[in-house]
Amino acid sequence: MFRASVLLSFVSFALALSASDLQVSVKAVSSSVRSIEDIILTAVVTNPTESEVRITSADNILDDANTESFAVSKDGERVVFAGVRMTANLELDTNWVTLPAGASLAVNHTVSQLYDFESHGTGKFTFKPSASFVSDITKVPVTVDVESVTVEVTEDVTFRPLFTRDEVPAGARQSTVNCGDGNRAQILRDSLADARARAGGAAYDIRANPNSVAWNRYFGGANHNDVWWRFDMIAGDLASSGVRQIYCNQDPAGICNRASAYVLLYLSGGAITSSDVYICDSFYNFPNTRDVCGWDINNLGYTKAGVMLHELSHATAATTDVYYCGPVQSLSPAEKFNNADNYQCMAHHIYRQYNC
Ligand SMILES: *[C@@H]1O[C@H](CO)[C@@H](O)[C@H](O)[C@H]1NC(C)=O
Repeated sequence: MFRASVLLSFVSFALALSASDLQVSVKAVSSSVRSIEDIILTAVVTNPTESEVRITSADNILDDANTESFAVSKDGERVVFAGVRMTANLELDTNWVTLPAGASLAVNHTVSQLYDFESHGTGKFTFKPSASFVSDITKVPVTVDVESVTVEVTEDVTFRPLFTRDEVPAGARQSTVNCGDGNRAQILRDSLADARARAGGAAYDIRANPNSVAWNRYFGGANHNDVWWRFDMIAGDLASSGVRQIYCNQDPAGICNRASAYVLLYLSGGAITSSDVYICDSFYNFPNTRDVCGWDINNLGYTKAGVMLHELSHATAATTDVYYCGPVQSLSPAEKFNNADNYQCMAHHIYRQYNC
């Protein structure tokens, strides 16, 4: 029944992926290691069906960049992710893989530079794989059930930063555009100013219209004050949200062939102390905020300011990535609160409603 109605409603006639269309397993090469450097986790994704499937390999267990492929915990406490928060550009083929019928794909993960193990000391760490896959960008990702893996680390949990951090220039504001290309620097400064204004508009509306359509779509069930605070941190560029540089023309993680932008968080005692933003070439192709006025309010897309706001929500609140304004409306209240695009989508909705 469900499938038949899906078929009728899509011109592409692509069958929606379901959780049973994929099998995922994760194994630790060794379940007890001396150092976090010796942890190797092997993920295998299998297509057990009789037709090929095309799925995203971004922000999940198939992603071999330094992104968050696992939720890590120790004694029930979350171990903070300290790697790359990538905003994948799903329009690029580099973020997709095709698995032929019956085929498997294996990816090895090393994790020593990606999580703040040090704050938790030696002992047993649990790795819950991120087994969410998009096959259709108009739908929420399909999540496959996978068992967590536990690895004991007996001696060395010392934090190893992924990249050496640049000195913060004297007198730096909380968010500072750092870009030698005058043209791009101006676009980034404009996008930053606009992102802050859009966040301010959304924060204002949460207080003025706590039961608005925009609220219910993008944050329904979440706590108004908590969401307000996250928008306000971005709008006010508050010192409590850390100091960051916004770079153009730099790609230390080597992922600009797949990303629109990304964020590297730096942690001290579990708190975000800085969170530099790296803007990739494809960012500059996003439209200007004014273009939102020509869009259907029920089908909002991305803008430069919106993607900047999305990055700032990674940078200030370590948010996650389920993409596009349609699918993010189906998340649970807790997931909405923690997902970057929900902030971008609500801000665009409010702009479309009052500024056009
Ligand atoms: C993963 O690492 C293990 C241990 O080093 C190795 O035997 C295996 O071939 C690797 N697999 C892949 C897919 O790289």
